[in-house]
Amino acid sequence: MDAALVGLDVGTTGARAVAINRTGTFLATATQEYPLATPRPGWTEQDPETWWLASMAALRKVTSELAVPVLGVGLAGQMHGCVFLDKADRVIRPALLWNDQRTARQCAAITERVGEERLLSIAGNPALTGFQAPKILWLRDEEPKAYASIRRVLLPKDYVRLRLTGERATDASDASGTLLLDLHARDWSDEILDLLEIPREWLPRVHEGPDTTGSVTAAAAASTGLQAGIPVAAGGGDNAAAAVGNGIVNEGVISSSIGTSGVIFADSATPRVDPQGRIHAFCHCVPGRYHLMGVTLAAGGSFRWWRDAGAGGIDYDTMASLAAQAPPGSEGLVFLPYIAGERTPHLDPYARGAFVGLQLRHTSAHLLRAVMEGVVYSLKDCLDLVTQLGVPVSEIRATGGASRSRMWRQLQADVFGLPIHRNRIDEGPAFGAALLGGIAAGVYADVDQASSHIRFDPEVTAPDLERHRLYQRYHAVYSKLYVATAAAMHELEKLSRPEGELGP
Ligand code: XUL
Repeated sequence: MDAALVGLDVGTTGARAVAINRTGTFLATATQEYPLATPRPGWTEQDPETWWLASMAALRKVTSELAVPVLGVGLAGQMHGCVFLDKADRVIRPALLWNDQRTARQCAAITERVGEERLLSIAGNPALTGFQAPKILWLRDEEPKAYASIRRVLLPKDYVRLRLTGERATDASDASGTLLLDLHARDWSDEILDLLEIPREWLPRVHEGPDTTGSVTAAAAASTGLQAGIPVAAGGGDNAAAAVGNGIVNEGVISSSIGTSGVIFADSATPRVDPQGRIHAFCHCVPGRYHLMGVTLAAGGSFRWWRDAGAGGIDYDTMASLAAQAPPGSEGLVFLPYIAGERTPHLDPYARGAFVGLQLRHTSAHLLRAVMEGVVYSLKDCLDLVTQLGVPVSEIRATGGASRSRMWRQLQADVFGLPIHRNRIDEGPAFGAALLGGIAAGVYADVDQASSHIRFDPEVTAPDLERHRLYQRYHAVYSKLYVATAAAMHELEKLSRPEGELGP
C-alpha cells in the first residue's frame, strides 16, 4: 500500500503544506496566508498563534485530500525569528522576524562582549540584526517586564513543532541562524551563552534535520487530520530544507533563489567561514554537512516595491516584458537594491537603495530593468564570495518564485556567465521537509536515498557571452557604488527617522 509524507513550511507570508508519496510525487498541496505587521519602520512582527492557525488549516486541507495514511512529517520555516514563551509555554509578545532591523545597538553590544573574531570562530558569523540572539537582548533592554517572564525561546517552525508534538526541539541549520550555536560542535555554545547571560535552559535541544523530535499528539491530530503518534522530523531552516528538495546536498551545485529575499546557497563538506563574515556560514540540515548562504534582503522585494511604487501596480509578467524593452545595462543606469538594508556582502541594516546614472532619456522600462539587474548584481556578489571561499561551482539551479520567469533566468545566466538550470517541479522548502520526514519515518535510509526521488524536469537557460561581458563591466561599477555612497545613505537614514528616535 502506498503512503504519504507531509512537509510543512512556516513561511513569512503563509504556511505551506505538501504531501508526497514514497517516490516524491505530489499528492496534495495547500497554502494558508497570514499578514506581517510593521509596527514601526524597520520592525517586522508576527503572532505565533497565526502560524499555528494557518498550519492547522493547511495541514487539514492536505490530509483531507489523501486516501493513504501519513507516515511522517518534516518542518521547515522562516529562519532567525524569536518566539518568547513564559513558564506555561504561553507566547509573551509577538515574534520578531528575520527581516526586522531594530537590533543594531544589541549587535554592537554582542560584538563588544564576545569579540568579533571569537564570534566568527565559534558561530561562523558576525552579529547581524536579523539573527535571534540580538532580539533576546533587545527585549532585555527595551521591554524588561516581558523579558522577566521568559522561560523559553524558539525559532518560528519550532513553535509550530511545540504545538504539534509538545516537544521543544530545533535543527542545526535553523539553530545556526541564532548566533548562539557552535558551528563546529553543532550544539549551543556555552561560551557565547555565558557572555550574553542567556540561560541554556531557555533553548531547545539541537538535532540533525532527519532526526525524530517527537510525534503528533492526539490533540494536534484532531485539529490537523494527521494520525496521532507519527514522527515529526527536526527539518530545517527554509533555505536548507529547500536545498534538500533541490538536491543541493553535495558540493558543486549551487542554488540561486529569488523570492522576497534573494539567496545564493552552496553546500559545503566543512565549515568555511569568511574572515570578514560577509556570507553566512551555517550547518546544513543534512547530518554533518554545512552550507554557505549569501542573502540579498530585497530581491523579489525590490521588484514588488517597484511594481507598487513605480510601475503603477501592473502585473509581474507585463513588468518583465516592459523591462525587456530596455537594453542590457539599462543605458548606464544602475539600481542598488538595499531598500531594506543589506546582508551579503555589506552587513549593513542602514544601507539604502539608489538609482545611479539617471539621464533624461531613461524611461520607465529602463528603471524597471535596472531594478532587476541590480538584484542580480547583488546575487553575483554572493556568488563571488562562494567561489572565493573555495566552493566549486559546477551548476546553478534557479529556485524561488522568480525562477518561473524567463526574463529573470536570462538575467541570472547573463550576469553570472553560467547556464541556469530550473526544475519545473519545484515545491520549495516544504518538499525538502517532507523528504526529511520520510527519513524520520524510516521510509528512506538517509538524505542521499531520499534525494534520489527528486524528480527533475529541467529547463536550461544559456548565457549570452556578449551580454555577460557587458554585465561584467556594469557589475564592476555596481561594486563601487555602496562604498561611495554608504556615508550619505547613513545620514539619510538618520534624517528619515521619526523625531527623537535614536539610532545605534
Ligand atoms: C535567511 C533568511 C531568509 C529567511 C526567509 O538567512 O533570513 O531567507 O529564512 O524566509
